[in-house]
Amino acid sequence: MDKRQAPGCSTDPNNKMVNIGNIVLPDFPLLLAPMEDVSDPPFRAVCKDNGADLMYTEFISSEGLIRDAIKSRQKLDIFDYERPIGIQIFGGDEDAMALSAKIVDTVNPDLVDINFGCPVKKVVSKGAGAGVLKDIDLMIRLTEAVVKSTRLPVTVKTRLGWDDSSKNIEEVAERLQDAGVKALAIHGRTRAQLYKGEADWTLIAKVKNNPRIKIPIFGNGDINSAPKALEYKERYGVDGIMIGRAAIGYPWIFREIKHYVQHKELLAPPTLEERIEVCKKHLHKSFEWKGPKIGIFEMRRHYTNYLKGLPNIKEFRGRLVTLTTVEEIETVLDEMYQYYKGYQFEHSQIDLIDYHQKCPI
Ligand SMILES: Cc1cc2nc3c(=O)[nH]c(=O)nc-3n(C[C@H](O)[C@H](O)[C@H](O)COP(=O)(O)O)c2cc1C
Repeated sequence: MDKRQAPGCSTDPNNKMVNIGNIVLPDFPLLLAPMEDVSDPPFRAVCKDNGADLMYTEFISSEGLIRDAIKSRQKLDIFDYERPIGIQIFGGDEDAMALSAKIVDTVNPDLVDINFGCPVKKVVSKGAGAGVLKDIDLMIRLTEAVVKSTRLPVTVKTRLGWDDSSKNIEEVAERLQDAGVKALAIHGRTRAQLYKGEADWTLIAKVKNNPRIKIPIFGNGDINSAPKALEYKERYGVDGIMIGRAAIGYPWIFREIKHYVQHKELLAPPTLEERIEVCKKHLHKSFEWKGPKIGIFEMRRHYTNYLKGLPNIKEFRGRLVTLTTVEEIETVLDEMYQYYKGYQFEHSQIDLIDYHQKCPI
């Protein structure tokens, strides 16, 4: 058995804190998954408030960063209250990845994450994202290029393999660790699966239980309730869990999981007042960061999720998605508060939408 261990990159069995390089996370940390067009600063702010221990930006094209593409640069915006925060990059060219890691360095995040899991055709066809699952040597060269060019801890997010007949995550994990990666998040699906079927965590557990593996292993895929998170923690033994879709419109998932893991009981669902407050905060942050037009427009997709469970919201919702100023929207939210005052929410199932059909990632 190879006993090599990169300094400062293992979970400490004594204190159960989870270390990623110099970053110290609490026992069983909950991570907010990188999500394109979702994990922006306004959304991250409400997830942070509700217990996300580590968050990532959405993925950023290395080629875009190098070309100074405005859209890519804007995605580098991070704030101190978000720490620890990782910036995720993707690309299939070693020089471009190395250079973009240097650019990422300049905004001083806590870590750089490499996306080796994106299944989209236009990404994989360039040997980026999940494309490298067919070419592990390239994956390692890309990783080494990033590790060499940054002073930050480098982490990776990937899938089980390319398809059912080539699930190579066990080999991938060992080689990534040897290449200097400080933590690995694994989505329990293959590239071929996209978002179909159920995420399979058995291979994630195998990686975690491999005695050669010293870096933290985070499981990802289909966590949508506190009981499921605890069940998967116990069954698969991962160091922490990464949550994506379930947090969209329900950032309270993080605190619910924390409470459940600690006390083995369900926390009461967020009250009407809290839902409206969080919705307002998201709206304000969206307005501040994206500007009045896009900020208000892009907020429209969130109202239904935040207010899910309230009966007959069609008329209110209709107004929320047509109004164009923060003040008007807040007035409607206040009206809703008065109208539904005292409404008792129940825990409802968080549906995990197959986003691949809606947005191709
Ligand atoms: C809308 C959307 C955008 C995504 N964008 C990214 C991304 O930029 N980078 C990435 O590594 N994964 C991305 N993913 C994948 C998620 O990070 C996560 O692996 C996947 O949703 C499975 O986790 P979940 O079942 O908790 O949602 C995206 C997923 C969704 C739904």
